[in-house]
Amino acid sequence: MKILVLGGAGYIGTHTMVELLNKNHEVVCIDNLSNSSLEAVRRVEKITGKTVSFYKLDLLDREKFSNIFCDENKKNKIDVVIMMAGFKAVGESVDKPLEYYENNLLSLINTLYVMKKYDCNNIIFSSSATVYGRPKSTPIYENFNSSDITNVSNPYGRTKAIIERIIMDYAISNENFKAVILRYFNPVGAHESGLIGEDPKGIPNNLMPFISQVAVGKRDTLHIFGNDYDTKDGTGVRDYIHVVDLAVGHVKALKVFDKNFVSKYENEIKNVYVYNLGTGNGYSVLDIVKAYEKACGHKINYDFKDRRKGDLDTVFCDKEKAYIDLGFEAKYNIDDMCTSSYNFQKNNPMGYIE
Ligand code: UFG
Repeated sequence: MKILVLGGAGYIGTHTMVELLNKNHEVVCIDNLSNSSLEAVRRVEKITGKTVSFYKLDLLDREKFSNIFCDENKKNKIDVVIMMAGFKAVGESVDKPLEYYENNLLSLINTLYVMKKYDCNNIIFSSSATVYGRPKSTPIYENFNSSDITNVSNPYGRTKAIIERIIMDYAISNENFKAVILRYFNPVGAHESGLIGEDPKGIPNNLMPFISQVAVGKRDTLHIFGNDYDTKDGTGVRDYIHVVDLAVGHVKALKVFDKNFVSKYENEIKNVYVYNLGTGNGYSVLDIVKAYEKACGHKINYDFKDRRKGDLDTVFCDKEKAYIDLGFEAKYNIDDMCTSSYNFQKNNPMGYIE
């Protein structure tokens, strides 16, 4: 298939492009490189020995986007769009809500318009466990949420919930359209080659890249946000999933676009299939610290700070729907996640250098 990956130069995009190319799909990538690097795309080509057709472009520019999507001879016909582009920092979204709504929502709306223009009807959208807000219980099932934006605690998460609803409304209006919504839990780790991984700009917001930087001496101390949660050791529990597993989840999701695909589940909206991508296991911050110490062979300095606003005690998914419908199952464990993460950090102490 010919697959267009929007935001493909980022952390999850690069790993997904590797898995797509390994399965002999043709990959076109559009990215504005605002939070990613062309070097990462070149490394995808190095890992796979294959070529990515790359275009540096902002999805807000609908006209240019449209030109790339399909040339006048309809030669560049795209079979599936994977929409991963968007701003993604929870804290930043609280300070810059307008930028988040403008960028994330308009990019998606332009994508649907352009797809409509060229009669492309298959999309996979990168959503997030954040759309569940505070879940009523764990594990979290896909049907806990009905894109209820009042339950979501920040503008970033609300862009995801609103986009899910836009996709559903569009599916109602166009019976040829099919969408897969993948709700990621906590993606971590890196490709085994050590060539691609997470390369956050500035101070990392997320746990794993922060620990990695402490492990290589780039930062002194990990601040653990809260040790009084209602969990086994008081620290927050999350469902960490290896980014390579997550990438494979996208390849498996292509199955939905087969003519003969039938979901075993009742889906809220016809032709919109929502799946959790996680391992179904919860690990605490201290579990991750211990696993990372094993991976890097020395202690990680940490201290305890107050809880971070908006954080939850425990988040982990029910993974059955993705397994039953798509045959997806994560195969990497937390030791693999920490080892690969450390390997990437060690090999790329300054991140991607262009
Ligand atoms: N944590 C720390 N110290 C840090 C960073 C994180 O103790 O420096 C803790 C958090 O309090 C939490 C856990 O580590 O208990 C995981 O935090 P992350 O920031 O790595 O991940 P979150 O679960 O907060 O958020 C992630 C993504 C969001 C996504 C969400 C979905 O960053 O984009 O998962 O559950 F929406």
